[in-house]
Amino acid sequence: ELSSLMSKASSQTMPLSHNILPRVLSFYHHWKKIYGASFVVWFGHTARLTVADPVLIRDIFITKSEYFEKNESPPLVKKLEGDGLLSLKGEKWAHHRKILTPTFHIENLKLMIPMMGNSMGKMLQEWSKMSSNDGKVEIEVSEWFQNLAEDVITRTAFGSSYEDGRAIYQLQAQQMVHATEAYQKVFIPGYRFLPTKKNRISWRLDKEIRKSLMKLIEKRRRNSSIDEGVLSEECPNDLLELMIKARLKETRDHHHLHTNTSLISSSTLTVHEIVEECKTIFFAGKHTTSNLLTWTTVLLAMHPRWQELAREEVLRVCGARDTPTKDDIAKLKTLGMILNESLRLYPPAVAAIRRAKVDVQLGELSIPRGTELLIPIVAVHHDPELWGHDVNDFNPVRFARGVGHAARHSMAFLPFGLGSRRCIGQNLAILQAKLAIAMILQRFTFDLSPNYQHAPNVQMLLYPQHGAPILFQKL
Ligand code: HEM
Repeated sequence: ELSSLMSKASSQTMPLSHNILPRVLSFYHHWKKIYGASFVVWFGHTARLTVADPVLIRDIFITKSEYFEKNESPPLVKKLEGDGLLSLKGEKWAHHRKILTPTFHIENLKLMIPMMGNSMGKMLQEWSKMSSNDGKVEIEVSEWFQNLAEDVITRTAFGSSYEDGRAIYQLQAQQMVHATEAYQKVFIPGYRFLPTKKNRISWRLDKEIRKSLMKLIEKRRRNSSIDEGVLSEECPNDLLELMIKARLKETRDHHHLHTNTSLISSSTLTVHEIVEECKTIFFAGKHTTSNLLTWTTVLLAMHPRWQELAREEVLRVCGARDTPTKDDIAKLKTLGMILNESLRLYPPAVAAIRRAKVDVQLGELSIPRGTELLIPIVAVHHDPELWGHDVNDFNPVRFARGVGHAARHSMAFLPFGLGSRRCIGQNLAILQAKLAIAMILQRFTFDLSPNYQHAPNVQMLLYPQHGAPILFQKL
């Protein structure tokens, strides 16, 4: 029963340095030995049932998913993530997911490869220019990858209105900094309502972002053709266009079919909803992808043999082409295995949280309605019972037979979540990471800088606490 688990766990407290990954993991492993794969951890005043057993994980995300829902984010996080796919629930979520899913279809994303390659090529040219006469340069990659991910997400979302979109997302990046600072002060009751200087800046940014997005959407709606867009190499659809077209197409069908108006409003996205989805995409897509790029570069710098294997593959597959094509990308199997192993060891999203909507039975546990559940992705990825005695080693070979066979249980690998609420941007993130790492391997060899300190740190996502300085040498 939950109550007995709670009383057992309440005597344990986390040390102050709990944000360092190895410590967090050693606690999980320790508690798992004492309490089994499900136990309660207190986060401030909130008790969360931690579920690290892959059988129960399957229940939560797949077989019994209708009994669980996303929990409410704290108000400041909510403001940043927008009222979009990440936080929506029920029918509203299903409707948005249906409209947005085609955007992230791999065939649609592949059309964006030249645009992404262009963005990455520019970044690598800058690195080359910064290098000394002997071709060496030290780069703090995490900052560069954040800018790169921001650029790619802006192009994916706004494509043909790139400049307008960039201005808006730059405001949102500023907003994130302010809100993160405010987030650290949540212990002051009502702080976010006080008219402090920083809060006023944040409110102004909020208004500006909303106003600019609405202006951009109106402009695009005026210019958007009523006919459904046909994807082509010259004119790949961007997210905004697809969301706007979903609306226009339904409206046109309405005129043809004379269906009633309530059906229309339930089957289209309003301008307000599109604004919120644009915010969500930025929030969910920027730091996650840049963290994947950062950790993969760090791991390849730590493991020169794998770096060499990946480079051999890239050079063999791409030949003289300096930007891989979509066919090349599909052939980069070793790089795919490396990315999966990087996501296993350093999953950017370390946990998922759910709430029981009703009283529900989960394995032997009777879960009362309202219970919060925490699925510790990072701990599941480091469980020796699931991954074997070499669980802490970087060994991409474990993914040679595909993700479903990498561990002793198919639910043991979940960097993008599982089930119907799994990450919608997974294909985009992997495509971007393959392209970026391949283009780096084509141009540079690299090593950890003597200034690098290994300190994976959980601050909403999994970051290298002291950045990731890497020494590059031009090939
Ligand atoms: C959901 C991880 C990249 C947009 C999720 C979830 C995870 C995740 C774990 C599920 C959360 C849950 O079940 O509570 C990641 C990682 C990424 C990445 C590790 C990169 C390496 C992206 C990108 C985008 C994106 C590039 C958008 C462009 C979303 C959205 C959801 C989501 C909208 C909510 C989906 C829904 O509930 O329908 N992501 N993500 N993510 N992600 Fe990602």
